[in-house]
This record gives sequence, C-alpha cells and structure tokens, in this order.
Amino acid sequence: MYDVFSLPPIEFPKDFIWGSATAAYQIEGDNVDAALWAKEEEYKWARSGKACNSYALYKQDIDLVKQLGHQAYRFSINWSRIEPVEGQWNPEAVEHYVDLCRRLHENGIKPIVTLYHGEHPLWFEVMGGWKKLDMLKYWARFVQYMAPKLAEYVDSWVVLNEFNGGCHVESGPRKYVMLKAHAMGYHIIKQYSQAPVSSAHAFIHWQPRRHHDKLDQIACGLDDWMQNEFFFHAIRTGEFVYPFFDAKYDAEIKGSVDFWAVNQYTRHMADARTAKLEGARYTHKKLRLIDTEFWFEEFFPEGTISTLERLADKPVMVSENGLACNDDRFRIVYLALHLCAIREAIDRGVDVRGYLYWSLMDNWEWGSYAPRFGLCAVNPETFERTPRPSAWYFKQIIQQNGFNAQLTRQYLKELPSLGCNEVPPASTKATGEMHDAFSGGVARRD
Ligand code: BGC
Repeated sequence: MYDVFSLPPIEFPKDFIWGSATAAYQIEGDNVDAALWAKEEEYKWARSGKACNSYALYKQDIDLVKQLGHQAYRFSINWSRIEPVEGQWNPEAVEHYVDLCRRLHENGIKPIVTLYHGEHPLWFEVMGGWKKLDMLKYWARFVQYMAPKLAEYVDSWVVLNEFNGGCHVESGPRKYVMLKAHAMGYHIIKQYSQAPVSSAHAFIHWQPRRHHDKLDQIACGLDDWMQNEFFFHAIRTGEFVYPFFDAKYDAEIKGSVDFWAVNQYTRHMADARTAKLEGARYTHKKLRLIDTEFWFEEFFPEGTISTLERLADKPVMVSENGLACNDDRFRIVYLALHLCAIREAIDRGVDVRGYLYWSLMDNWEWGSYAPRFGLCAVNPETFERTPRPSAWYFKQIIQQNGFNAQLTRQYLKELPSLGCNEVPPASTKATGEMHDAFSGGVARRD
C-alpha cells in the first residue's frame, strides 16, 4: 500500500473545476419507460426501484452539491422520461431538467449535461436500438429537441457516456453506430450552444498480465485499441478502424470533440490465454473493498498518469474517477493518490481542466446497491443523504485548490505514518541526514 502522508503538497492550476457526477438511471428512481427497467422485470434481475429518489429530491441534491462546495455537477438526461412513447414529448420531464440546469446555474454551479448515460426508452430498444444506423434519426430528433432548451444554462456537454466499452470484435458495429451518434450530437449541439462538447470515454489502462509474454503484449495492444484508441483515432482522423471490420472514413466524426472527457478508475490485465483477452489481477495487490466480487480491486494511479499523457492534444476533463468501498478511509486514500497523479500529469504537460468525483452519492450500480461510490451515503428507506468524511475532505481540497499531508492527516487520524514528509514533532526534528543501509554510512537527504 502507499503512504499517503508522504505525498508532496500539491496545488492545482487557477480556475481548475471541481465537482461530482451522477447519472439519471442510477439515482432518479422509477425509470419505468426505460428499456433497462423492462429487462429488470423480464429477467427477474435485481431492481433499481426508487434508487436515490432523486427525480423527486433534485432540489435537495442541488443544496447538497452546494453545501459540499462543488463548482460543477455532471448529471444525465433520461431520454425515456422525455420521450416515453416514440414521437411523444413529456413537457413535465422537460421542465424538470430545465429547472435542474437553471437552479444549478443560479447557485453558481456549472451544469455538465450528459445526454445519454447507459439507458434509452423501451420503444427505441424494441425498434432495434443502437444496432442499426437508421435508428440514429430518433436519436438526432431527441438531441435536436433538448439541446436548445438547455443551451442557456449548460457549461459543458457530454453527448454519450462510455459507448467505447467492450473489448470484443462483435461490438465493432455498435461502436460505429454510436460513434456516428456522438458526431451527430456534437454537430446538433453546436447549432445552439457555445459550450464545449465531448463524449465521456471509459478509459481502461490495459497491461499485459505476463509482462514479457509476446501474446499478452499483443492482446494488450488489441484490448487497448478496441477499448481506447479506436475512439481517439477516429476523432483525430475521421477514420473508424476496428478488428474484422472494413475501415470507414467519415468527415463528420473528425474533430467532433472540443475537449477529452475521461472516466478513469483502475487498470485491467490483458491475457491472451483467455477467450475474452482479459485475466485476473495480481493476487498480491487485490483489495477487498466491498463484501462481494466487484471489478474494482486495485488502486492504480499510475494508470491515470499514462491515460492523461495520451490526451495532451486537447483540454481534458476527468469526468469520472472514484472508489466503491465500505470503509470511507479508502476513498480518502484513493482521492489523495489520484489527485497527485493528475497533478503529475499536469506537470508533464497535459491541460487538465477539472475533476469530477464519481459519485455524489451511493447509487444503483447497474445491478446492485452493494458498491458504494458515494461521497454521501443514502438511507434506502428515507433517502436521507449523509456526507461521509471524504465529502468534507474533498470540500477542503476544493477550497484550498489542492492539499497537503496535514489535511489528509485530519481525516485519517488513526493511521500510522510510514513516511518522512510529514512535519515531525519538535523533539524529533529531522536533521537532514538518514542512515544509508547499504554503505553503513550516513547519506544526505535533499
Ligand atoms: C459509469 C458509471 C458507473 C461507474 C462505476 C462508470 O463506468 O459511467 O455509470 O457507475 O463507472 O462503475
């Protein structure tokens, strides 16, 4: 494990934007017209139910965001509320999202609006969903309808969230359709809004499971292309290149982001000896953060640096980063390490403009309420939100536009310090010398 108390004190650039992120289906509750809702029912999956009841409690959530000092709030529009039946708009839902944007704006909080975050109306799914190019006319109509209504308030736009996921050859056609959906969304929004536009990319840091194994290295290259690079390559060049798919060029795709929005959490292991080209993580680094198996088993802030270094050609927003854990102290450690990594990437020349913690509150993690990502806990009966210590730690980081070991120490009082950068008590003040275990002599420490 790392020693968080020996991290260097850091400060972020002036005007750096701090905030948090959520998504409609994960917090609103009762998304009865969404395709996912129908699947939960049909396949007897765990039910999202009322989630955090945020559709009803959104005003309270704005107060919470404000109380926690966030300068920006990323949330998503639920298409299935806006257009529950094909071609029929729901004015009450439209007003809900306009009001959400307006109130954030009036409270000095930048609304960062995602137009699509993992769910769509049931009718869209039944008609073919993202599998067919000719379905994009429905998507374009939705964007065309919503963008002008929100444009006045929106600070930044995220057209789609994480359509890049899935490292399989079969996901190529869907990714192509969604890449086109992204580009369409970008160009429609541009007709109404001056605010910067992107799509949030699920950036996975891939690593060969066996470092020197040729096949794992090849698997790693493939995983990385199918997960990450196909998207950046397409945006940079207009060319969609994907394994076992005839490459296509589309001028509309080229240049269709104003900034890179990246959701970055941890690393994954490329393993050529598994059918899905992904293997288990190193056992010695596995953390048991919640009571059940979950993809998040390791901290890997180095991955954040390498991710960001690949995106040095445009401004970058870390549109999601966070940790699911039962013990909030892990979240504090995770935050400290990842913010240091981001600062390091800035020092290496990456223009990182902001950081959004995932998530403002515990929510529906696509099939379970067990993984708790929240800065705030949510009571499942009363829906009361309770900020955790990490929320106050994050608030102080925002206020100071950075942090140092003393601040971290306030929130991790009981952990022993393993490092040497903390201000030592007067009686043991460092002499600037330490024992050199190898030479048996005394070495100078700078
Ligand atoms: C998604 C969120 C999800 C989070 C944690 C991101 O990939 O955008 O919807 O809850 O990861 O798994």
